[in-house]
Amino acid sequence: MLEVRDVTKHFGGLCAVNEVSFSVKEGAVVGLIGPNGAGKTTLLNLICGIYKPDAGTIRFAEKDITGMPSNRICRLGVSRTYQIPQPFYAMTTLTGVAVSVIHGKKRPHMSLSDAILEASYYLEFVGLFSKRDTLARELTIYELRMLELARALATTPKLLLLDEVMAGLNPAESSKALEMIWNAQEQFDITILWIEHIMKIIMNAAQQIVVLHYGQKIAEGTPQEIANDAKVIEAYLGGQYAQSGRP
Ligand SMILES: Nc1ncnc2c1ncn2[C@@H]1O[C@H](COP(=O)(O)OP(=O)(O)OP(=O)(O)O)[C@@H](O)[C@H]1O
Ligand SMILES: [Mg+2]
Repeated sequence: MLEVRDVTKHFGGLCAVNEVSFSVKEGAVVGLIGPNGAGKTTLLNLICGIYKPDAGTIRFAEKDITGMPSNRICRLGVSRTYQIPQPFYAMTTLTGVAVSVIHGKKRPHMSLSDAILEASYYLEFVGLFSKRDTLARELTIYELRMLELARALATTPKLLLLDEVMAGLNPAESSKALEMIWNAQEQFDITILWIEHIMKIIMNAAQQIVVLHYGQKIAEGTPQEIANDAKVIEAYLGGQYAQSGRP
């Protein structure tokens, strides 16, 4: 479904993503991990068209999407959540999701009332329907993360890119968020590429993990393989996962 080949991105003299290649199969959950500043978010930004790669190619659903504008990539079926939530803070949650409904579709003449109706469905799905008239800036971090998810789902993605969707949540909220992601995957038949720092979650959730370090892919494999990879342990995990032999 997604093929990233030798993708490179510089910011001035810094090579944030350095000849990274990996692929994501339809229906999979793939984890993207690595230390702070490893280039994970930049890679997501390259996939969804916020940045253009300096070199390399990105293919999605058999199409070359390298360098395409993000609105076109979104309409092809790629959407994402942000590490720092990016809602329209001065809009109600319902209106904000309706904007995603309208812009995520190839239906430019969709009426506002139809968009609002569809947006209500996604708000209900993530458990925020009772907050439909609340301004996004008044939400808690958990609610903001769920609003991000609703906004992403409202564009009807085939591939969902999650950027630290659990950050800032307490354990009870993380469990609820995790359940929401599983429900979304089942109900909307989506493939997921997921940046996550909480190893317990991503090691259990993903079938395949890609590890970045200083912009380079240093390992790729099953959670079990990654947990026991000497390079990954040294760069990121420490000994905690290797010792148990299980992620
Ligand atoms: N727009 C930008 N301009 C300049 N440098 C940038 C830009 N975006 C990212 N960087 C730099 O590129 C490197 C990779 O950043 P990135 O945000 O992709 O890391 P990350 O793996 O997502 O880290 P974290 O786990 O902290 O979110 C960092 O050194 C960062 O400072
Ligand atoms: Mg990041």
